[in-house]
Amino acid sequence: MKAQPVFFQSDRLTIINEDMLKTHLIKRCSIDLVITSPPYNVDIQYSSHNDGLSYDEYLKFSKSWLSRCYRWLAITGRFCLNIPLDKNRGGQQSIGADLTTIAKKSGFKYHTTIVWNEGNISRRTAWGSWMNPSAPYVITPVELIVVFYKGQWKKTTGTKVSDITREEFISWTNGLWSFTGESKKKVNHPAPFPLELPKRCMKLFSFVGDTILDPFMGSGSTLVAAYRNSRYGIGIEFDKGYCKTAKNRLLYELRNKNLSD
Ligand SMILES: C[S@@+](CC[C@H](N)C(=O)[O-])C[C@H]1O[C@@H](n2cnc3c(N)ncnc32)[C@H](O)[C@@H]1O
Repeated sequence: MKAQPVFFQSDRLTIINEDMLKTHLIKRCSIDLVITSPPYNVDIQYSSHNDGLSYDEYLKFSKSWLSRCYRWLAITGRFCLNIPLDKNRGGQQSIGADLTTIAKKSGFKYHTTIVWNEGNISRRTAWGSWMNPSAPYVITPVELIVVFYKGQWKKTTGTKVSDITREEFISWTNGLWSFTGESKKKVNHPAPFPLELPKRCMKLFSFVGDTILDPFMGSGSTLVAAYRNSRYGIGIEFDKGYCKTAKNRLLYELRNKNLSD
């Protein structure tokens, strides 16, 4: 018997257990905001995904998934893409710049880039040529959130209900964000982002009641943030184990409705 792709559905939340490159469950022009962190191709040991493609293959994969997201986005839709600035493992590559270029070629319009200062310099292991200009390595401990849109930047659809506070608006419109990363152990996934990231993106770029999609859902962080902030959340993830992890996180949220982060 074929597995059912809708893995979990409750209240405003849906988990789709399918390859995002193949699913037919997302309607064209139906999504208000995509928030996602795709695989970075840095040899992370995911249960299903191969994170060690050649850079050319990785760019082809990026092109395919970006054009699907473009089709799914509403005309007034927006897209927050969390990616590294560059890649240092297995050869230096300008991932941030390359994916921005591919997104623009897929039809997205560029709005801005937010720099997320993770403050995690302790991961540092390779210096190249130590104290010597022959071949040093510079590591920048930040990630990017590149913000795109589909039609026009001014958002004219949705409930028009904003839930961002004065302090949040002043602080988050400064595009240098500083908060720490998420513990892999805590959420049981090898590369989660912290809830703070999707929370800021959705409060800054979407209205209450909008539909948020994460096509690389992982442990479900975007859906947890969507639920806590009164948005609809759809996550796509092809690994069943991660879908189970996400479902458990969401069940916890649903049971404890009054939690705040
Ligand atoms: C960087 S992680 C996302 C982590 C997520 N932001 C979180 O907070 O847990 C990328 C995820 O994409 C999934 N993935 C990779 N290729 C996929 C595909 N073609 N379709 C669906 N999911 C995919 C991987 O299994 C992995 O869980």
